[in-house]
Amino acid sequence: MDLHTEYLGLALGTPFVVGASPLCDDVASARRLQEAGAGAVVLRSLFEEQIDPPTPAPALAVASAQEGEEMFPEYAEYQFSPEAYVRHVVRLKRELAIPVIVSLNGHQLHGWAEVARRMERAGADAIELNFYQVVANPATAADYVEMEMLRVTGDVAGSVKIPVAVKLSPFHSSVAQLAVALELVGAAGVVVFNRFYQPDIDIDELTVRPMLRLSEPQELLLRLRWLAILSPLLRGSLAATGGVHRDADAAKAILAGAHAVQLVSVLLRHGPGVLTSMAHGLTAWMEVHGYSNLTDCRGRLNLERCGDAAAFERANYIRTLQSWHG
Ligand SMILES: Cc1cc2nc3c(=O)[nH]c(=O)nc-3n(C[C@H](O)[C@H](O)[C@H](O)COP(=O)(O)O)c2cc1C
Repeated sequence: MDLHTEYLGLALGTPFVVGASPLCDDVASARRLQEAGAGAVVLRSLFEEQIDPPTPAPALAVASAQEGEEMFPEYAEYQFSPEAYVRHVVRLKRELAIPVIVSLNGHQLHGWAEVARRMERAGADAIELNFYQVVANPATAADYVEMEMLRVTGDVAGSVKIPVAVKLSPFHSSVAQLAVALELVGAAGVVVFNRFYQPDIDIDELTVRPMLRLSEPQELLLRLRWLAILSPLLRGSLAATGGVHRDADAAKAILAGAHAVQLVSVLLRHGPGVLTSMAHGLTAWMEVHGYSNLTDCRGRLNLERCGDAAAFERANYIRTLQSWHG
């Protein structure tokens, strides 16, 4: 059975990509993930705050510069300095046969083109841009946010020969238009979707509690919808990230149109062996359904033949609400 796939123009032996996380912080762990069946790895992010340290906002600067500085980790607290990150890429490229994808994370990203070139020179096979931000300033217009994403993506993609993917947020008014526009400025693929880490409120201590919860499989459903919508619209690659925990989840994402599935939570919980069992499970499912390779099944359940995806989604919404007979 053939689990080969093409992702961002790279030939992968399996569609299982280790998502951006600490999982590949050391070479031995990355090698174990490769041996267990990873098709590629994405390294943890290098943050724009490491390249261009933030200055405290004016109000904070007046009230308490100290407080403003403490919002972000100190330079030495990041696991990899930019220099160490580059050295890590060089080391991983020496030790691994599978593609190594670097992750650049920020939303202002001045100077990212130069960082991207350094990553390319270090041997990175691709770049994943993560524009994680919570737009809380009422003076910031939605189209400004997206124009900046397009500008930076175009700038980075135009500065390197290696492919550039964008890890998208689901919270854009028109995800489909943005994804198509990203492709037009040079993105080789999109990754759906960023998970937003949502702090909770402690009602006893009256504090805000930051929380990093691993994902749950139901988070995949949002990704499946958008894979199915985007798959007929894009010429480049699609990857799912968020809620891929079982071989059946991978099969669903591929049927919806994914070229690759990224895994983090399930690997943090259960270790690299999951990759091997997911490959067996996916292979068994393909056999049952008569698929000899992933191209045969990719996008079989996307919305290509649907004509009007928005009307289809609206009709499903109404039918779902009407189906409740409590
Ligand atoms: C501990 C941890 C660290 C992560 N670090 C990053 C990161 O540096 N950059 C990034 O883009 N995503 C990061 N993520 C998000 C993952 O890449 C992934 O998108 C998310 O966990 C959803 O996938 P999952 O359901 O397989 O966990 C991190 C996730 C976890 C759990």
